[in-house]
Amino acid sequence: MYSILDLYLIHQPYGDVYGSWRAMEELYREGKIKAIGVSNFYTDRLIDLIIHNEVVPAVNQVEVHPFCQQIEAHPFMQENKVQIEAWRPFAEGRNNIFENEILRSIGEKHNKTVAQVILRWLVQRDVIAIPKTVRKERMVENFSIFDFALNPEDMDAIMVLDTGTSLFLDHRDPETVKRLGNAKLNI
Ligand SMILES: NC(=O)c1ccc[n+]([C@@H]2O[C@H](COP(=O)([O-])OP(=O)(O)OC[C@H]3O[C@@H](n4cnc5c(N)ncnc54)[C@H](OP(=O)(O)O)[C@@H]3O)[C@@H](O)[C@H]2O)c1
Repeated sequence: MYSILDLYLIHQPYGDVYGSWRAMEELYREGKIKAIGVSNFYTDRLIDLIIHNEVVPAVNQVEVHPFCQQIEAHPFMQENKVQIEAWRPFAEGRNNIFENEILRSIGEKHNKTVAQVILRWLVQRDVIAIPKTVRKERMVENFSIFDFALNPEDMDAIMVLDTGTSLFLDHRDPETVKRLGNAKLNI
């Protein structure tokens, strides 16, 4: 029996999450999906899903980049055996991230680009990253992060950039829930 999908996620913690999860659990048990997980689940939603179901999500894909580091949520996911995965690891270029002085100076020290410093910082924190680029040379650049290591001082310097909040949206804001819910209904 071949798995049809490697990984299948619930995109947002809204709507019939339990119905979806139980259907996904069934497909997982039948071997049709190799791993099932969630995305944008804050720690309260995540633990609720875990304690009321049988299969623990393999992954929680959430916003993680230097300005939003998930410093509290990350250890919680680790304790509960859920792998954190970063969406928008480059903050989609916002806040002038590729020109950031701290990231640039760390990059210069290691002869690496800002993008490589960010991806290496994620790897060293055990965060899976899914950076997006449409350019082949940047894909090569983004893969070339396994020949250097950030030291504890570099890691501490990047930690200072955290704002503790999203650059994009708050999944707990009722207006966001309404907007995303309506968008789904209009598909
Ligand atoms: N689960 C969710 O709710 C959720 C939400 C948002 C996003 N995502 C996912 O997260 C992934 C990435 O998100 P994203 O594309 O929005 O943001 P991102 O990966 O943070 O940033 C992409 C931007 O960075 C540029 N870039 C990539 N590599 C670079 C490099 N080495 N140097 C300079 N610039 C570079 C890209 O430009 P070029 O393409 O021109 O290189 C693009 O403008 C996607 O797969 C997306 O589907 C998931």
